[in-house]
Amino acid sequence: MEKESILKRRAVEASEKAFAPHSKFKVGASLITEDGEVFSGSNVEPITLSLGICAERNVVFQAVGSGHKKITGIVIYTPTEEPTLPCGACRELISEFGSDAEILSFTPTSEERNTIQDLLPKELE
Ligand code: THU
Repeated sequence: MEKESILKRRAVEASEKAFAPHSKFKVGASLITEDGEVFSGSNVEPITLSLGICAERNVVFQAVGSGHKKITGIVIYTPTEEPTLPCGACRELISEFGSDAEILSFTPTSEERNTIQDLLPKELE
């Protein structure tokens, strides 16, 4: 993935800024757009939990809200043993703005690479 080491650093920094007082699950995400711009964001859990947002959705909204509608790569960091993959809602959102996006999920000790297409449900025949 283009600018992978920058994206990894930004995802770790975002995870450190996560606001997750309820779950304590601190997720950081970063992304790169087709024109090489990098964005990052974390999950945010306000008191009204249903208003909370995943790190992936936060970072996609930042990019799209800043005028970048084509995402080519997303990096997700969690300080856990197993890498974290985006939830179903985030997969759908990512696919709208990055139909071929690469997704790198990593932790201090492991990583997993997918494309968004790998993570979407397949159409019925
Ligand atoms: N979360 C993310 O930010 N990304 C994921 O891929 C999985 C879950 C957040 C949502 C909530 O703040 C916390 O992790 C627990 O589910």
